[in-house]
Amino acid sequence: MNQSIAQKISLLRQQIQTHNLNYYTLDAPTITDAEYDRQLKRLRELEEKYPEYATPDSPSQSIGGPVLENFSKVAHELPMLSLGNVYSEEELAEFVERIQKQLKNAQTLSFCVEPKLDGLAISLLYEQGKLTRAATRGDGAIGEDVTYNVKTIKNIPHILKGDNIPERLEVRGEVVMPIAAFHAFNQHAIAKEAKSFVNPRNAAAGSLRQLDSNITAQRPLAFYSYGLGIIKNGCLANSHYQRLQQLKAWGLPLTTEVTLETGAQGCFEAYTRLLQKRPTLPYEIDGIVYKVDDIELQEQLGFIARSPRWATAHKFPAQEEQTRLLDVEFQVGRTGAITPVAILQPVFVGGVTVSRASLHNADEIKRLHLKIGNTVVIRRAADVIPQIVRALPDTHQNSKEIIFPTTCPICASEIERIEDEAIARCPGGLYCAAQRKEAIKYFASRKAMNIDGLGEKVVEQLVDAQLIDNPADLFNLTVAQLIPLERMAEKKANKLIDAISQCKNTTFPKFLLALGIREVGEATAKNLADYFLTLEALRKASVEDLLKVDDVGDIVAQHIVTFFRQKHNQEVISALLASGIHWPEIKAKEQQIQPLAGKTFVLTGTLIQMDRNQAKQALQALGAKVSGSVSKKTDYVVAGEAAGSKLSKAQELGITILDEVEMLNLLNSFKAN
Ligand code: IVH
Repeated sequence: MNQSIAQKISLLRQQIQTHNLNYYTLDAPTITDAEYDRQLKRLRELEEKYPEYATPDSPSQSIGGPVLENFSKVAHELPMLSLGNVYSEEELAEFVERIQKQLKNAQTLSFCVEPKLDGLAISLLYEQGKLTRAATRGDGAIGEDVTYNVKTIKNIPHILKGDNIPERLEVRGEVVMPIAAFHAFNQHAIAKEAKSFVNPRNAAAGSLRQLDSNITAQRPLAFYSYGLGIIKNGCLANSHYQRLQQLKAWGLPLTTEVTLETGAQGCFEAYTRLLQKRPTLPYEIDGIVYKVDDIELQEQLGFIARSPRWATAHKFPAQEEQTRLLDVEFQVGRTGAITPVAILQPVFVGGVTVSRASLHNADEIKRLHLKIGNTVVIRRAADVIPQIVRALPDTHQNSKEIIFPTTCPICASEIERIEDEAIARCPGGLYCAAQRKEAIKYFASRKAMNIDGLGEKVVEQLVDAQLIDNPADLFNLTVAQLIPLERMAEKKANKLIDAISQCKNTTFPKFLLALGIREVGEATAKNLADYFLTLEALRKASVEDLLKVDDVGDIVAQHIVTFFRQKHNQEVISALLASGIHWPEIKAKEQQIQPLAGKTFVLTGTLIQMDRNQAKQALQALGAKVSGSVSKKTDYVVAGEAAGSKLSKAQELGITILDEVEMLNLLNSFKAN
C-alpha cells in the first residue's frame, strides 16, 4: 500500500470535512471557494487515480454539510442534486457533444441558460397552490425544515395565483441576499459591533438557518426559481424554459437573465454576455448553468451519481482568491495623506494578476487584524479596485505586526494623526518630494490644466532629476532638458513643450482647481470663481467671505485661507501668472437678477415628474443653491415621496416645505415671466 498517497487522501478528507463544517454548519468559512474547489478537485482526482482508497463516506461523495440537529428533518421525495462543471469553451463543447452522442441526435440542441446564483438551494412545496413546506437541500437526500423562515421572505408567494396549478408542486431555487442589502446589513452590524458576514451567500445561509424566524424576517433575502421537483396532477410544458415561465405566471420569482440558446456556440455567447453583465446584477452569481431544454430528452439522458447529465455549470473566474501578505508599503499622496499599501504574492483574481492593494488607513489594518505573513483573501470584481476583504486565521509562525511609521517615508517629517480622523498625514507639503510629484501631476491632469503628454512617469523623472520643483517650473523647461528622459525622443519633447505652452490659455475655475487646494474640487472651484470673479478678490477673502459661497463650509474655507497665506504658494502663483497663464474675465453676471439667487433648496424623497438631478439643474439655473443637508441656512425643502429624516428636520426647524407640484409651479412661474 502506498502510504504517502493514503496519507494525502486522508489529510485532504479531514481538511475538506473541517471546511464543510465551517461553511455549511457554522456559516464561517476559513478559505475561499476557489481554494475549497481546488482541494475537492485534488481529492477527486486522487480517488479516481487510486480507486482502492475510495470510500463511501469520503467528502467527495456527499454534497453540502450535515443537517443541524435543531431543525426538524425533511426527506426529499426526489433528491436535490448537484451540477457538474465545465471550465472552458472546449469543455462546454465536449459536454454538448457527449449529450448529442448519447441521444444519437445530430441536430442542434436547445438549452435553457440561467445564471448560477450564489446562495442557498431551497425546495418549496405547494399543495393545492398553498406553500406548505420549505426545506434546505442538506445533503441532497435530507434537508432541514425552514418553513417558518422561508415564509418571511418577501418575494415568495404563500399562495400561487392563476390556473392549472398542480395539486402538489415542488419549486426549487436559490435564496440569496442581494448585494446592496448585504453591504447595508454588514455596515449596520459593524457599527453595532455585531457579527458581520464574509459574503452575500454566507449572509443568506446564516439568515435562513436561524431558529428564530423573527430574525430571518429582518434580513433582506430574496428567492429565484430555477427548477421543479415533485409535480402531481398537473400538466406542464415539455420545455424547461416554458416551465420556468409558467412558474413566473403563478407568481414565483424568476431572474431576468434566463434565455434559450442553440448549441454550444449559443451557450458560450450567453456565457460571455452574462460575464460582462455580472457587475451590474443585483445578486451575486458564480457562473452560468446550461440545461437541455426538452424535458423528454432530459429524461432520456438521466443522471450520473448526483448530477444530471442534461445540465452543467460553467463557472466564472473566481472573484475571491487567497494569497500571502508579503509586506506593507506606505505611500504619500498629494495632500500628504499616508496610505498603507499591501504588497502581495501575485495572485490571479477576477481576470487579472494582483500584486498590490490599498489598505486605506490604520483603522482598516486594525479592523482586518492584519499581520505581515498572513494569508489574506483578495476580492476583485470586474473593473473594481482589488481589496483585501479578510485575513484568514493566522497559521503562520513568522507573522509580523504592521508598524505604522511615525515619520514620512519620503521626507522624514513627523507624521500627524488628528484624533478622530482615520488619516495620517505628512505635513511636509511641497518640501516632501512625494507631495511635489503628486501636486504637479494634479496640476497637469485633464480636468485641471490638461497638459497632454505630461504623464505620471514624466513628472516623476523631472522631479527626481531636480528639473522641476513646483508647477511653475514646468514653464521654464526646454526641449534639451526633456530629451534625455526615458522614452522621450525629440519629437515627443517638442510636443510636450508645445502642450505646456498651450495650457496657459485656460479658465479661472480650471486654474483654481490646478492649484490643488485641499477639498477644492471642480464644483467648489467653479463656485469660487463665479462668486469672487478674480483671483485677487479670492486671495484676499476671509473665512466669513468664503462661507457665503455655495457649498463652502468651515473646513474648506479654512483650507483656502491657509493656502493663500503661505508664502511659498504666493510665490508659485506669481510665477505661474508671470509665465503667461491667463483666462477670460468672468463677468459679474446675471446672478443678481436671477430670481432664486441667494435661496438655498434641499431636495429629498422621490420626485415623480423629473428626477432629482433635473430638479437641481432647473433650480440652479434660476440662481438657487441646492444643498445636500438641511440646516438653519436652508430656505426651502422640496419633499418628494417617502421623504424621511431631512423632512423631519425641516419641520423641526420651521423651514418652508414644498411638494413636487409646488416646486414645479414655482419653476414654471419664472418661465412665464
Ligand atoms: S440546477 C438538477 N440551476 O448550484 C439540477 N442550480 O451545484 C440542480 N444553483 O444546488 C440544480 N443557480 O444551489 C441549478 N440556475 C440554477 C442554479 C443552481 C444556482 C445552485 C444550486 C445547486 C448548485 C449545484
